[in-house]
Amino acid sequence: MITGAASGIGAAIALEAAGRRLPLALLDRDEPALARVAEEAEASGAPTAAAFPVDVTDAAALEAALRAAVDAVGVPGGAVCSAGVDQGGPSHELPVAVWDRVIAVNLRGTFLACRTLAGILLEHGRTGAIVCVSSPFASVGAPGGTAAYSASKGGVSALVRSLAVEYARAGIRFNALVPGATETPLMWASVADDERERMRAVVEGEIPLGRMADPREPARAALWLLSEEAAYMTGAALVLDGGILARSSVSV
Ligand code: NAI
Repeated sequence: MITGAASGIGAAIALEAAGRRLPLALLDRDEPALARVAEEAEASGAPTAAAFPVDVTDAAALEAALRAAVDAVGVPGGAVCSAGVDQGGPSHELPVAVWDRVIAVNLRGTFLACRTLAGILLEHGRTGAIVCVSSPFASVGAPGGTAAYSASKGGVSALVRSLAVEYARAGIRFNALVPGATETPLMWASVADDERERMRAVVEGEIPLGRMADPREPARAALWLLSEEAAYMTGAALVLDGGILARSSVSV
């Protein structure tokens, strides 16, 4: 089960999982893009890739979509909460409505998916693993306007640690995936087209490995976190940031 599956990292996870012949339930608010990813996932080997258009901030609609996904695909042993939005501008100019939306999608939406999935697993007496997507900005400051985004991702990291301890004895693992700058639409959402190459050089100049991530790189890491190979990992953060956090004294 993947939220934010219509684009970027979520779509890359869907396609990687499809190649491993996993049945998929894909959720996103972007219905046409979601349908395209579902089609591509089935063409890439997923036995089924069912699409459930939903806004993750709508608690009732999300619960209904997740329960419909269980009916269609089965109880998910693994889930990734990847739906997210950027704030798109300097913090002193940030409209309160945008602050609320960023927190609602990135933090409330992640919590709502986690709590509903945990409830479904408990109801069915099943164990499972859930990955939430955080960010290096949960731990370090950044120029360019990320206050709401960073606050939401700090919340996601805290949420993961809290839920991991709460549900460890129930056999439900929660971990944070911490991708660095990854080549997706979100990365460029607030950058004008003619500014992109200049910005790319700035961003890549800050990354010790000197390049942005391909979305398939965090996707493979997310699938590893869901796998039995990560059975002893819960409440942790898996960082794939090209070395950004290694340059600071902060650990996640
Ligand atoms: P993206 O913009 O390519 O994909 C995000 C997806 O979330 C889109 O398909 C969008 O329709 C969906 N979405 C947004 N609001 C939604 C809502 N209310 N309900 C349902 N779906 C909604 O972005 P990307 O880069 O794939 O981001 C995925 C996650 O990774 C996000 O949580 C983001 O914050 C995080 N991340 C991304 C990084 C990057 O450099 N791209 C770096 C660190 C974290």
